[in-house]
Amino acid sequence: MTNVLVTGGAGYIGSHACKVLAQAGYTPVTVDNLSTGWRDAVQFGPFEQADLLDREALDRIFGKYSPVAVMHFAALSDVAESARDPGRYWRVNVGGSLNLAEAAVAAECRHFVFSSTCATYGDQDGVLLDEETEQRPINAYGASKRAVEAMLQNFETVYGLKSVIFRYFNVAGASPDGDVGEHHRPETHLIPLMLDAIDGKRPALTIFGEDYETPDGTCIRDYVHVMDLVDAHLKGLEWLRDERGSRVFNLGTGSGFSVKQVVEHSAGVTNREVPIDKGPRRAGDAVALVSGSRRAGTELGWTPERSTLDRMIGDAWRWHQSGSYEK
Ligand code: UFG
Repeated sequence: MTNVLVTGGAGYIGSHACKVLAQAGYTPVTVDNLSTGWRDAVQFGPFEQADLLDREALDRIFGKYSPVAVMHFAALSDVAESARDPGRYWRVNVGGSLNLAEAAVAAECRHFVFSSTCATYGDQDGVLLDEETEQRPINAYGASKRAVEAMLQNFETVYGLKSVIFRYFNVAGASPDGDVGEHHRPETHLIPLMLDAIDGKRPALTIFGEDYETPDGTCIRDYVHVMDLVDAHLKGLEWLRDERGSRVFNLGTGSGFSVKQVVEHSAGVTNREVPIDKGPRRAGDAVALVSGSRRAGTELGWTPERSTLDRMIGDAWRWHQSGSYEK
């Protein structure tokens, strides 16, 4: 069996990654402390409940499975929370990643795929962001991910740990089969919150700020379908196994949509009204985050073919209506 250790495999993106890894013939071994993940999202391989801050547990798991690679999704990822409580982000995201990378090196596992974020770029005033753009994070979430990127570069130089670093833009949608999808508690993300408002589970969607310097005053993001995103991870894994070396890739489409545009598309796809409230700006939010890179396309052969806004909202809506996420 070709095992791949998937941290955060019980979470939103990690569970979708496990699904495509299993389809590609790998055995995804989920390592998750279930602090934000869901036991019933682990459907595609073995499960080890462990915290990344527990180095002994990690050593035991590496010894048991001898994985050929690590895909490291587990992290705290709430931008607003990170603006209020930065210490947690440094402890969990940086401390956990350090333990994991050290355990991988000790077990002679030399391939590491890391979930980073466009939040490492910070607010760059309308600039399209590519991998060479200077990283200037404006919140502890982005800063913690940038720190892990730097750590991985050091670990390559000293220990030969090769990494593919993916800087995600805004991930959305769900597996079209409806077996896994997005489920955070508390939910903080735009599209699931909007779907809740549409079917009456919340009174309204609050738009955080309408006075940004954008055409309609609301923040702009580059949305990418979770199934496209995890396809890129498979390609990144093969890249490493082919010994093509460490590399950073943005994962976005290059098209930005404002919060109000997402609201309009959601109304169209679901054929329902979206109840809206107006709120103040949310701490830590950048005005616009849009990828300006084609590197993942030209070098990895990645095409985000499912990443139209309507398809992402449609797949999220199907998952939402299935009721699975309420379990
Ligand atoms: N928004 C609202 N109302 C809500 C929720 C969100 O107006 O109830 C707005 C936000 O202010 C933002 C946009 O919708 O402008 C998207 O917000 P999300 O919370 O869905 O996503 P973020 O852009 O804050 O964060 C996501 C991921 C992070 C990643 C980041 C990079 O959660 O992990 O994208 O932008 F780092």
